[in-house]
Amino acid sequence: MSVRIARTIAECRAELAALRAGRRVAFVPTMGALHEGHLSLVNLARTKADVVVVSVFVNPTQFAPGEDFERYPRDLERDARLVAERGAALVFAPDVEEMYPRPLLTRVTMHGITDDLEGARRPGHFEGVLTVVAKLFHIVEPEVAVFGQKDAQQAAAIRRMVVDLDFPVEIVVGATARDPDGLALSSRNAYLSADDRREALALRAALGRAERLAAEGVADAAPLLDAMRDELSRHPAIDVDYVALVERDSFRSVDRVTSPAVAAVAARVGRTRLIDNVVIEPHAR
Ligand code: PAJ
Repeated sequence: MSVRIARTIAECRAELAALRAGRRVAFVPTMGALHEGHLSLVNLARTKADVVVVSVFVNPTQFAPGEDFERYPRDLERDARLVAERGAALVFAPDVEEMYPRPLLTRVTMHGITDDLEGARRPGHFEGVLTVVAKLFHIVEPEVAVFGQKDAQQAAAIRRMVVDLDFPVEIVVGATARDPDGLALSSRNAYLSADDRREALALRAALGRAERLAAEGVADAAPLLDAMRDELSRHPAIDVDYVALVERDSFRSVDRVTSPAVAAVAARVGRTRLIDNVVIEPHAR
């Protein structure tokens, strides 16, 4: 299995000119430290297009001060091997200087969808994400781009950005890949001790409580939120950041589930901040 690796924008564009030859390109942007969640998106991308491009770039502008930019795990050789096994044709792995050779005077800013939850807790995060994704879209020019439901607010923001700014890109959102015990895969799980990891299962358990209630026909937000908070409160090692029920596309909080909603939790386990969510469909009655 061979995958080409481009380290500069010019190389990436030249490789793509050769690879594309009238074929559809699907793009999976990542920050590397790839796990089965990322790879499930590569698999999904393969079903959507002939040529799959994966970017590996730990984007400094989306890390708030004091976050883990410096210690974020990096292993390009391993990442390239893994995506090659899943049939990706090209890895775009620029360094910071290549992406940001001069101060950015132009950025993508969003209001509404990105105001609360992750946006409120991680100042500048979504501006950093949307700006780098816009740059990557211009470099790769994919027909399709694949993102994970794991980062539900990010997926909603990107879906809106491409509509607002007329990017000719179809956005596909892949399901959250989980370990067999339910823990959502995340590059940051690598920071968890064995004890932390056991405690971290409380996030999935809390979401499960909301899911089960919703399946029984409970549509009011209050009992769904209470059930999640109750589950998390049984785990003193979990430091809850937020528990929320929001409309899937606008990310506005809802009092009642009448259209697809996202139940979302964020919590610190030890020194590691984890997020997880499930989609709650309105009950068919
Ligand atoms: P990163 O955290 O590396 O995630 C890359 C993609 O993988 C995102 O779309 C994310 O939602 C998805 N993903 C992560 N864990 C997943 C899981 N368990 N199951 C399914 N998909 C999962 O998200 C980013 O990078 C960055 O913000 C980026 C979009 C690359 C911009 O820098």
